[in-house]
Amino acid sequence: MAAARAHWGSRFGFVLAAAGSAVGLGNLWKFPYITWENNGGAFVIVYLVAILVLGLPIMMAEILIGRRAQLSAVPAFEKLGGKGWSIVGWLGVASGTTILSYYMVIAGWSVRSFYQCLVWSFTSYTPPAEGDFGAFLANAPLQIGLTAIFSVATAFIVYRGIGGGIEKATKIMMPVLIIILLYLVGTALTLDGRDEALSMLFTPHFDQLPAKGYLEAVGHAFFTLSLGLGAMIVYGSYIGKKESIFGAAAWVVVLDTLFALFAAIAMFTIILSVPEMQDRMSGSTMGMLFITLPDLFYTNMPGGRILAPAFFILVGFAALSSTISLGEVITSLMIDKKGWSRPKATIICAGGVFVGSILAALSLGAVEPLSSFELIEGKPGVLATLDHMAANWMLPLGGLGITIFVGWFLGRKNAMEELGITKPSLPFTIWIWCLRIVAPAAIIALLVAVAIGKDFS
Ligand code: TRP
Repeated sequence: MAAARAHWGSRFGFVLAAAGSAVGLGNLWKFPYITWENNGGAFVIVYLVAILVLGLPIMMAEILIGRRAQLSAVPAFEKLGGKGWSIVGWLGVASGTTILSYYMVIAGWSVRSFYQCLVWSFTSYTPPAEGDFGAFLANAPLQIGLTAIFSVATAFIVYRGIGGGIEKATKIMMPVLIIILLYLVGTALTLDGRDEALSMLFTPHFDQLPAKGYLEAVGHAFFTLSLGLGAMIVYGSYIGKKESIFGAAAWVVVLDTLFALFAAIAMFTIILSVPEMQDRMSGSTMGMLFITLPDLFYTNMPGGRILAPAFFILVGFAALSSTISLGEVITSLMIDKKGWSRPKATIICAGGVFVGSILAALSLGAVEPLSSFELIEGKPGVLATLDHMAANWMLPLGGLGITIFVGWFLGRKNAMEELGITKPSLPFTIWIWCLRIVAPAAIIALLVAVAIGKDFS
């Protein structure tokens, strides 16, 4: 007989681990950037609506599938829906591998920036020469080395399992994240640009929101909440039967949204406080996060010597608690499906993903065909291509499968039983119709837009 399935050790185990998964580079790097591009206020409202009508219902749907089946995504679909549905699980595993391959690379940069800031804080700040970041990206051994550090850290935690690995790690990291973020926001709000930043973020002007922004919000809702590939199915399978699925999902959604908004407040304030900053942003948040922010910390912010290294701990921890969830998706599949032991599954999966990561790591200028081929117009290189595939196609498709499965196939009775209700209440009805009609419609609109050539990554 199989050993009893591991469970989170405490009530907050799931919430912290799932919030750790959700809060990541998507919050610190993508959200402020796309909000800026879409001119703030109105986009924020559309994003919040997307989180509420798509994010929360789909998060609940994923957790429900996992807890009902007590299995990770592929076998869970098999058990609840039959062989045919397991394709949604497989797609999720492919998405997880894809995202993990490039996410590790970007996450690795936080290690370099942290080290750099430590040196600057203890000596003195010397602005990097022009082109320094480009040279860093093209430095093959460094890119591979940093990715390796991150891969080993991720594998180490996944190897140790649910309670002693993932839960313990997120229990340490999440409070640290919250403290550092609050400190960052608190300091940013002492800068001159505060009022302008808050008004830009929270005064909606729908005439300034580009049409593309609506669907961009939908796509980002998936990425930021770790939805669409079964990560929450896996984490949900470790939740105790007595926990409220709505309560757990709501906590995660609220924490993730607060992180995104706070990150945007901090970044917008910093950008708007430094006059020449807006021109220097150079159309990329990567640049902003890893080049411009350190410079600003040391030259323009009170307490910058502490804030700068702390900030990169924030980025690194946020990324790590996300990579472990992606790693767990793949690892748990091998455990549940192939019957491998956790150590064996972790090592083989980590090794496999690392091969993909090397390709992504070398695609930023280090190795030629990897860096410049354009499968998708305007997205040269392996890393950008993988990001496009995952964010535009794979997550929305996976999300569509999940909504249709829970909305139309699982059956109301099963869903109600798992949610712990005996007759359909108004919130239940709203939830099920979000899954049946609203979310699929929004996802199909997104997929159609991608098919005709739009890009949301
Ligand atoms: N949510 C994370 C972020 O915002 C990324 C992530 C982790 C993710 N696990 C996922 C995205 C699963 C999609 C699916 O950075």
